[in-house]
Amino acid sequence: MSIRATVVGVGHYLPERIVENAEFAETLDTSDEWIRSRSGIERRHFAAEGETTSDLAHHAAQAALKDAGLEANDIDAIVLATSTADLTFPSAATMVQAKLGMTRGFAFDVQAVCAGFIFALSNADALILSGQAKRVLVIGAETFSRIMDWQDRGTCVLFGDGAGALVLEAQEGSGTNADRGILATDLNSDGRHKDILYVDGGVSTHSTGHLRMQGKEVFRHAVEKLAKTAHTAMDKIGLTSDQVDWIVPHQANIRIIAGTAKKMGLPMDNVVVTVQDHGNTSAASIPLALSVGKQRGQIKPGDVIVSEAIGGGLAWGAVVLRW
Ligand code: UT7
Repeated sequence: MSIRATVVGVGHYLPERIVENAEFAETLDTSDEWIRSRSGIERRHFAAEGETTSDLAHHAAQAALKDAGLEANDIDAIVLATSTADLTFPSAATMVQAKLGMTRGFAFDVQAVCAGFIFALSNADALILSGQAKRVLVIGAETFSRIMDWQDRGTCVLFGDGAGALVLEAQEGSGTNADRGILATDLNSDGRHKDILYVDGGVSTHSTGHLRMQGKEVFRHAVEKLAKTAHTAMDKIGLTSDQVDWIVPHQANIRIIAGTAKKMGLPMDNVVVTVQDHGNTSAASIPLALSVGKQRGQIKPGDVIVSEAIGGGLAWGAVVLRW
C-alpha cells in the first residue's frame, strides 16, 4: 500500500468581462485574424476594477470544495500558484484562507509563473506523501491584465485573468500506475533565460512593472522542452503515450499545444483546449482547463492525464495523474 494525492474536487472562476480580439484592433495595429492565427486566442476575461487575484481564487476554491462535498475546515493546507498576488505580502493564499472562513491549517503561495500550477501540484503532492497534510486545496489564480503594457501588441493581446482549483486528498493506492491520483511529477528551471520573459519592475527594484517577452524565443524553448518534461514524468511511472487519455497543457498558444501533442504522438482529439476562450492565464490555465474539461464531459474518472507548462524563469515541468 502507498499513499496517493487524489483529486476529489475541481472548480474554476472567470471574471465577468469578456474581451474579444476585435476590441484590441480599435486601439492597436493588430487584427482578430493575426491574434487567432498566431496564437489560437479569440477572447479572454479581464477582472473588474477592484477584483483581485484572491477574489478569483476564492470563487474557484469554493467551487472545488463544493464539488468535493467538503467544508473549508476539512482542508489542511492551501497552495496557491500566482505571479500576481493582491499585495507584496501576505500571500494571496492566506487571503483565500480567510475568505473561505478556514481557521486551521496553513496556506502559502508558489511563484513559478506559467508553470506555477505544476510546481504547486508537485509541492501539494509532497505535503500529502510526507504526511504533513491529508487534504490540500491547490489553486492557480492570476490577474495578468494588471501587468500588461497596453501599447505592446506583442504581449497585451495574449493574456487573460481567471482561476482554477483542485482538492487533493490522501488515499491509499497500490503503488502502481493503476492508482488514481498524482503518479509522477517533473520540475525544471534555468535562470539563465530570465531576459526572454519577465516583468520589468518589483518590490526591490521599482514600480510594479510590465510583462516583457521575446515571444519567438519562448516559443522555441516551449517546443523543445514541453514534450521532453512530459515524457520524463511518464517514464518515472512507466506510462507510454498510448496509455494517456488527455493532455491538459498550459494554454499559451495553440501552435505550441499542437506541436507538443504531435511530439508526444497524440492527436488533438486527446487534448483539452481552452486557449480560444481564456487566452494565456498563466498559473490558472491548467486548473481552468481541467475544470472545463470535466464540465464538457471530456475528463472522466480513471482517465490518465498529462499536464505540462513552461514560463518565466524559465521554469517548466509536468504532472502525470489518474483522475
Ligand atoms: O505562457 C508563457 C509562455 N509564453 C508563451 O508560450 C508564448 C510563446 N510565444 C508565442 O506564442 C508566439 O511567439 C507569439 C504569439 C507571441 C508571436 O507569434 P510569432 O509567430 O512568434 O510572431 P512574431 O513575434 O515573430 O511576430 C511576427 C510579426 C512581427 O512583425 P514583423 O517584425 O515580422 O514585421 C510582429 O511585430 O507579427 C508582428 N506582431 C503583430 N502583428 C499584429 C506581433 N504582435 C502582433 C499583433 N498583431 N498583436
